Amino acid sequence: MTLGAEVHADTAPPADPVALAVSWLPADDDPDRPQVTLSTQGLDGWPNARTVLLSAVDRTGFAFHTSASSAKAHELAAVPRAAMTVVFAPAFSRQLVVRGDVVRCSPGELAAAYTARSPYLRRLAWLNDDALAALPRAERVARWAAGEPAAGAPEGWTGWRLVPRELTFWVSDADTASRRLQYRRTAEGWRVRPLAG
Ligand SMILES: Cc1cc2nc3c(=O)[nH]c(=O)nc-3n(C[C@H](O)[C@H](O)[C@H](O)COP(=O)(O)O)c2cc1C
Repeated sequence: MTLGAEVHADTAPPADPVALAVSWLPADDDPDRPQVTLSTQGLDGWPNARTVLLSAVDRTGFAFHTSASSAKAHELAAVPRAAMTVVFAPAFSRQLVVRGDVVRCSPGELAAAYTARSPYLRRLAWLNDDALAALPRAERVARWAAGEPAAGAPEGWTGWRLVPRELTFWVSDADTASRRLQYRRTAEGWRVRPLAG
């Protein structure tokens, strides 16, 4: 079945939304990581959002990594809930929105995710802070060139897993309206319903 066809099919929707999400996303060992919009509750009360790389996905949730000094880290410490939006290029004919609670990644997961990052992103994890950002460009370039990162992740390297309570799969259709399947976790299992696109 073509990816996304499940959302428009007349047959019963897939019973397991996490398996469906995994089938839409690249394998965890694919270096081309999905770029997702991570939404949090800002400390000032307004929603906040930014792009992060989806590090891994499995039955336990959707993992992402960042600096413990970032705004998102402080926001998730205060309100451990988030939403993640993925739009699938190049056709932009599919979207996945996941909402739920977040839990912290284990030390082993943090180390594995850091090792899987490109050399550029590992250097970024060591060097990219507000002090560097405040410098003139020539100094930023010099610090970048001089700063050979130590082995292993910096102390502030951290990550969370978004544990889904709701997953919404959106698929366009050239011949009719776009449609969504929304799964909500209940005490009895996943409840699914079709929604307008
Ligand atoms: C394509 C793309 C991927 C990104 N991936 C990450 C990431 O995996 N982790 C991260 O902390 N920031 C990532 N960023 C930077 C964030 O969008 C953001 O600017 C930064 O994390 C600070 O966010 P905050 O102040 O809201 O915490 C990425 C940005 C882009 C454009």
